[in-house]
Amino acid sequence: MAEHRFVSKFSLLLLVILCFLLNEINSDSLRIFTPKDIKEFDGSDSEKPIYMAVKGVVFDVSTGKDFYGKGAAYNALVGKDASRGVAKMSLEPDDLTSDVTGLTEQQLEELDKIFKNVYVAKYPVVGHMSWNLDNNHSDL
Ligand code: HEM
Repeated sequence: MAEHRFVSKFSLLLLVILCFLLNEINSDSLRIFTPKDIKEFDGSDSEKPIYMAVKGVVFDVSTGKDFYGKGAAYNALVGKDASRGVAKMSLEPDDLTSDVTGLTEQQLEELDKIFKNVYVAKYPVVGHMSWNLDNNHSDL
């Protein structure tokens, strides 16, 4: 009987821990953006925040308005995932895509460095691109 009481107390404890963990996961949940969703935040409307995705992670780059706002030098990179352009340091229309196929090792390393040292370091993460849900980004 005493053993039975112990087991049920133990399961109650497990349940409490589980609820706590589920709550933690939910409160951390981030928005999922399709390419159409993120386009809305390309800096053309000064009332809205400016979002940009790198490696499928969406950052709020509003504090970098002087780089990314309407008419600014890097405005072409926002409202989308332009990882290829970031990796190649290119603003050519063909490079404004998340497709990184065919890039050199060095360009991919550069992308990782900028991802970490610029975007993760400077800007809050607000979500993920819809095609990037399997990637848990343990480097964030
Ligand atoms: C003549 C060419 C360029 C010059 C002189 C230049 C200069 C700079 C400087 C000085 C910064 C640092 C600004 C700061 O932290 O205050 C910067 C940041 C940056 N540049 Fe360039 N850049 C050039 C071309 C490009 C191109 C072609 C790209 C294309 C992707 C690019 C992408 C970036 C990005 C993503 C940042 C980080 C902005 C941030 O902190 O959010 N740059 N650039």
